Amino acid sequence: MVFTMSERSRNLPRRSCLSVPGSSERFLTKALSIQADMTFLDLEDSVAPLEKEAARSAVAKAIREQDWDDRVLCVRINAWDTRWTYGDVIEVVSNAGERLDELMLPKVQSAAEVVALDLLLTQIEKNVGLPIGHIGIEAQIETTRGLINVEEICAASPRLETIIFGPADFAASMEMPVLTGGVQISDYPGDHFHYVFSKILMAGRANQLQVIDGPYLKIKDSEGLRDYAKRTSTLGYDGKWALHPEQVEIINEVYSPTQEQFDRAWEILDAYKSATEGDHKGAVMFGDEMIDEASRKMASKFVARGERAGRKRSTK
Ligand code: GLV
Ligand code: MG
Repeated sequence: MVFTMSERSRNLPRRSCLSVPGSSERFLTKALSIQADMTFLDLEDSVAPLEKEAARSAVAKAIREQDWDDRVLCVRINAWDTRWTYGDVIEVVSNAGERLDELMLPKVQSAAEVVALDLLLTQIEKNVGLPIGHIGIEAQIETTRGLINVEEICAASPRLETIIFGPADFAASMEMPVLTGGVQISDYPGDHFHYVFSKILMAGRANQLQVIDGPYLKIKDSEGLRDYAKRTSTLGYDGKWALHPEQVEIINEVYSPTQEQFDRAWEILDAYKSATEGDHKGAVMFGDEMIDEASRKMASKFVARGERAGRKRSTK
């Protein structure tokens, strides 16, 4: 089958991904005024079990009736090991599928879980008259089994748009002796999640997915957030979750190239183009550095990311 996969949101920026509890009418309304690139309305862990079913209709109503401008709009459903998953998908997509860009599937353990969601979405899209492939999928890796299977998970469906690390659940799944996931651990010499960050990043990139880091739970610690966000932005992650409006601003800044980096990337592209096309040379000096085809690739990624963040080249 040929899919026209959720093209609208696939390449939109996701520097900041705002988490909004789906059971709170106040937060659902407030989310509109927060300038996050991506917003997800949560039916999973920020919603109490007794509120799960009521939250479905509140979320569908908010998607239909509120103006979400052009941001990426997502709903996080409950994991397949609960009893809520199919009901979440059917109710939300049937009643609010048109504006919805994607569903986020938490605690993904195997590729089969992504395939199951893909198949269910196809049936609902047929029944409600949406184009097949309209709804994309974001998958959260937050268990040890999920990390072991991350390569197959990232290749499981053309609906996949992002792969996300969930540090809080992951710390619990690893049985790490910490009470807060996704923050610095001063007793550990190095970054306790370095392997995990790199593994997820590679699996995501090998399948052309955006790769996102999860929440920083110390809401009031903005310097700690900035420091921690720099780790995954330096590795190449596209963005990070925000749990509070103040986190959004810091995250947007950390995951955007600076104007200087953006301009320099353009200069590399220009110098390389005139070397290869004008002088038929494969490698050329750029200031005191040698640049070649690999430099062009690195620079074009920078330019693409800067453009996605709204940067324009400085005029000289
Ligand atoms: C997010 O869902 C996390 O568990 O960190
Ligand atoms: Mg989680």
